[in-house]
Amino acid sequence: MAEHDRQVHVDRNLALELVRVTEAAALAAARWMGRGDKNAADGAAVEAMRRAFDTVAISGTVMIGEGEMDEAPMLYIGEKVGLYAKAGGGPEVDIAVDPLEGTSITAKGGPNAMAVVALAQKGGFLHAPDIYMDKLAVGPGLPEGVVSLDASVEENLRELAKAKKRDISDLVVCLLDRDRHKEIVKRCRAAGARIMMIPDGDVSGVVAVSQPDTGVDVYMGSGGAPEGVLAAAALRCIGGQMQGRLLFENDDQVLRAKEMGITDPSRIYGLEDMAKGDVMFAATGVTSGPMLRGVRHFGSGAYTHSIVMRSKSGTVRYVEAHHNFALKPAAFTA
Ligand code: FBP
Repeated sequence: MAEHDRQVHVDRNLALELVRVTEAAALAAARWMGRGDKNAADGAAVEAMRRAFDTVAISGTVMIGEGEMDEAPMLYIGEKVGLYAKAGGGPEVDIAVDPLEGTSITAKGGPNAMAVVALAQKGGFLHAPDIYMDKLAVGPGLPEGVVSLDASVEENLRELAKAKKRDISDLVVCLLDRDRHKEIVKRCRAAGARIMMIPDGDVSGVVAVSQPDTGVDVYMGSGGAPEGVLAAAALRCIGGQMQGRLLFENDDQVLRAKEMGITDPSRIYGLEDMAKGDVMFAATGVTSGPMLRGVRHFGSGAYTHSIVMRSKSGTVRYVEAHHNFALKPAAFTA
């Protein structure tokens, strides 16, 4: 097999391996759905995801994870994961994870929680500190730079409506339901746009702009910076535009970011700045949302619904899996 063909083969298999990792986390987290304990749900997802990584044929380094080494026992920034992590060999990749995106919604049994993983070539992900990021995203097929974090809410809505040949009143803006977004909401409504507020989970909020069925035209507002990088990885695969700007609350955060290589605190990051090169993205629904159905348990097993995408081929694949716990290894039944 020629080297190029071999690489394509490895990449394709890897993408499907990633789904196993998100499936394991989602299955574990779903056991905690609606039980009012977000930490237990998160812990179960982290542990299951970490274990599932041991079977993936990579030599991976966690770049976006559960925090620093001293604050997270597993999937911490810098942790080596994968079948070849210790022995070496296998493709060297960087990894971004959110084993449970939507811990509170899982605890409450709300919509749209999912397990998320992205993978890039070495150095492909922005080393985003765990602070807020201002985010702005629109779907594919629009002129480059149609919206900008440097422009006002009104200007962005005007330009987007023009590019989509619609009225502003036709546009739907998705954002997290937070007090800090009151001003954006007020200005969107005054401009005539409609609002879709989500309780949590802005990775799927951002990805919604690239999925016509959701009816979301633009994502605005701030959320976690690590989630911003994961959303950027997804948009690199599925198409669309996104900008992110880190929101520093104090000098310590600026200092910490400097140590991570971020020298310009006011920089606006584009998609490629956050997730560059060949990227893969996988997510499995924990609870149901517009993108993915949640885990459903039945007698001796469970059903999962996942999405897996690759930037290189642009393939977006939905994977439905029926897991038979009687025949599965422990990683999938936790
Ligand atoms: P968790 O899964 O860690 O609870 O994060 C959920 C989330 O809604 C993210 O999607 C989002 O980026 C972030 O929290 C927003 O943070 P905050 O709740 O502080 O506004």
